[in-house]
Amino acid sequence: MKQYYILTYGCQMNTYDSHLMELLLEEHGYVQAGDIEHADVVIVNTCAVREHAVKRVLSRIDSLKTLKRKNPSLRLGIAGCVPQQLKARITKKRPFVDFILGPDNLKDVVMCAQGASGLFVDLNDTPLYSDLYPANGDFPEAYVSVMRGCINFCSYCIVPYTRGKDKSRRIHDIKREVEKLALKGYKRIVLLGQNVNNYDDHEKRLPHLLSEIAHINAIERIGFLTSHPAFFPIEVIDVMKEEPKIEKCIHLPLQSGSSKILRRMNRIYTKDHYRELINEIRTRIDDIALTTDIIVGFPGETEDDFSETMEMVNGIRFDSAYMFQYSPRRFTLASTYCSSIDTETRMRRLHELIRVQSEITRQKSNASRGRILDVLIIGENEKNYLESNAISVYNKRIVVQGRFESGTIRKVRIIDVKGWTPVGKPLQEHE
Ligand code: 5AD
Ligand code: SF4
Repeated sequence: MKQYYILTYGCQMNTYDSHLMELLLEEHGYVQAGDIEHADVVIVNTCAVREHAVKRVLSRIDSLKTLKRKNPSLRLGIAGCVPQQLKARITKKRPFVDFILGPDNLKDVVMCAQGASGLFVDLNDTPLYSDLYPANGDFPEAYVSVMRGCINFCSYCIVPYTRGKDKSRRIHDIKREVEKLALKGYKRIVLLGQNVNNYDDHEKRLPHLLSEIAHINAIERIGFLTSHPAFFPIEVIDVMKEEPKIEKCIHLPLQSGSSKILRRMNRIYTKDHYRELINEIRTRIDDIALTTDIIVGFPGETEDDFSETMEMVNGIRFDSAYMFQYSPRRFTLASTYCSSIDTETRMRRLHELIRVQSEITRQKSNASRGRILDVLIIGENEKNYLESNAISVYNKRIVVQGRFESGTIRKVRIIDVKGWTPVGKPLQEHE
């Protein structure tokens, strides 16, 4: 039997896409190779969101040249956003690569594994996953893609060029996939899309989708990402209040706290709008976790603009944040902007932001001492086999004292904090 090996880089959507390729290959008789050396087909599924990610991927691809030399019949393919963006850099500079597959062409994986060579990089408008249910992964959690692509054209972002227009998957396909996962015992589902505000299956939007998924009995927890602060469907909060299974956490990328920079980023909201949205959300539901993404060092970001970002971070007090320094991406509008910020300044701002946000995250974890929470056990703590890893309904990782079965829910009291992670003690029956 032919064996395949897939190396995955990037976001959860890429992991999901790799599961899609696995599913198709296995349907055609391929099996997963135990290690890369024994594979007949090797695929690198790539991410292009920042230059650093691209460099890592390209150097990994170059290291596979030796593998190909040792085994000339090996089929080597590169999939995802990097070949979609940099066709020539792969095909002209790396002739040892047999095929490339853009994010909308993953269904051609079998044909390529079997011998077709070349470029398969046509962005198109057909949802990729109808009648396919690739979700798989770390029991008891699974990610399920509900839409692909985005054409918001934030001026720094490569996604519109690599994944094209947003394409929503039909609700009945998503439900079927979640039901299949429920049957296998999965308990936590995270619905994925680059901008889930735009989810639209014949006028049925995100709030509707969430409540449909919440009706699937065996599923205990439902998360979703990523939301956009402009046109955020506030009815989501009402659904969240009605359906306790929906995690009380919204990932809402701020990107910058300066309205001037937000305009240059083409984010179509101002800092006041963002602040008002947060107030509205917190008024409707007081105990909600808010997480965010922030970019520092965007072209033209002055010390004052950066201070505005810090003010927002200090004022809103996010539960956690992904923080990046700006990385210019070819084709994007921002890559044509002058007034780029030097590396030293970008690094300094990033470190300052990380320092302040980490302290907020730590304080929030500390403030949770004494709280009683129902947490979902997701596995053994890799650092201490006498403890379990769990996740709260606020999408916060918790360490639980004791060994418990994955997929079960335990009531714990937070008694300590290790680093940034709250530690929970399971309650006895009578407590
Ligand atoms: N440079 C730095 N960060 C970026 N992101 C997207 N594009 C870039 C870029 N060119 C960040 C944004 C986005 C997250 C997924 O990645 O913060 O929300
Ligand atoms: Fe990129 Fe997100 Fe903006 Fe879409 S909304 S262009 S994925 S940053």
